[in-house]
Amino acid sequence: MKALVYLGPGEKAWKEVALPKIQHPTDVIVRIDTTTICGSDLHILKGDVPAVTPGRILGHEGVGTITEVGSSVTSLAVGDNVILSCIKSCGHCNFCKQGLFAHCLGEEGAVGIGWIFGHLIDGTQAEFVRVPYAETSVYKVPEGVTNQQAVMLSDILPTGFEIGVQNGQTKPGDVVAVIGAGPVGLAVIMTAGLYGPSKIISIDLDANRMEQAKKFGATDGVNSGDPQWKKKVMALTDGWGVDVAVEAVGLPATFDMATQIVRPGGHVANVGVHGKPVELRMQDLWIHNITISMGLVNTNTTPMLLKLVAEGKLNVDKFASHHFKLDEMLAAYDTFSRAAETKALKVIIER
Ligand SMILES: NC(=O)c1ccc[n+]([C@@H]2O[C@H](COP(=O)([O-])OP(=O)(O)OC[C@H]3O[C@@H](n4cnc5c(N)ncnc54)[C@H](O)[C@@H]3O)[C@@H](O)[C@H]2O)c1
Ligand SMILES: [Zn+2]
Ligand SMILES: [Zn+2]
Repeated sequence: MKALVYLGPGEKAWKEVALPKIQHPTDVIVRIDTTTICGSDLHILKGDVPAVTPGRILGHEGVGTITEVGSSVTSLAVGDNVILSCIKSCGHCNFCKQGLFAHCLGEEGAVGIGWIFGHLIDGTQAEFVRVPYAETSVYKVPEGVTNQQAVMLSDILPTGFEIGVQNGQTKPGDVVAVIGAGPVGLAVIMTAGLYGPSKIISIDLDANRMEQAKKFGATDGVNSGDPQWKKKVMALTDGWGVDVAVEAVGLPATFDMATQIVRPGGHVANVGVHGKPVELRMQDLWIHNITISMGLVNTNTTPMLLKLVAEGKLNVDKFASHHFKLDEMLAAYDTFSRAAETKALKVIIER
């Protein structure tokens, strides 16, 4: 089969590799019908995620058809159309029992790390993928939900909601600022809307993405390239700052921005994947009674979000900006990595 193989920082190839095989009774094999590219894949290609070693098939988002089931799998069958979650869940370890799937103690990939696809085991940017702990890690696509909609549930929707909106403890009436208007930042904006904030301020360097953010529920946009950016954000609050500042980029500078605009008593929710240390200005921040959170998505909210998508309450088709075939994978990467020029949001890659 063909797959997108990581060959070291800056190097990748769409090439012939061996078909995946069932390795454990709880595995299934899925034929990928729809996949996409994440900002995290770009971080990997920059060399920010050293756990990814050359030879790894990338990708942690996908929807596909089960072609083979392991001997202990009873609730899934060949032919089922399923969403592959970016997080594994063995279903019976202590962390899984708490819904903390991000730290599943199952041995696949690494004990204690939920994100394994395209990271610690081969991923979804391929014609076929082996899915460990399948019964507790995939979701059947409900009637009426398209693959394009379903693939937004693999990662961006639960990530934006859990690590941005829920960790930020967003409440009705809050002023929420979201730094970074990539697909993940836009997912924060869309799902923050579920809590009725009074304002959602989108902050990015890319004017197109900030314009797009309005379609996802942002009420205001501030360009962080503007030397007056902070003054402009503060002017949209009561003068004391935003209630919730979400970092959805993954850079020291943007994390610092979040700490500069949060009000006393407010929340900074870091979503971005970081590759370098950030400086925390404790000497200024300690007295502000702020809460800082960070984390890897658990995907425990996937069933709830999927219900909202199925009922038409979250219009996730807006995320899809470009369409490619699987064998146009390199073109899809090129388009997604030059989002400022190509206006790409989520690139939908189909069989
Ligand atoms: N915590 C998790 O579980 C989790 C899961 C998935 C993705 N992520 C991370 O979320 C982040 C966003 O993902 P994405 O797919 O939306 O990425 P992306 O690269 O598409 O988007 C990043 C956005 O940040 C903007 N940006 C860059 N520098 C900026 C600056 N100085 N000020 C304001 N905006 C700036 C870019 O213009 C872009 O629109 C990435 O770091 C990704 O790795 C985290
Ligand atoms: Zn991702
Ligand atoms: Zn587990």
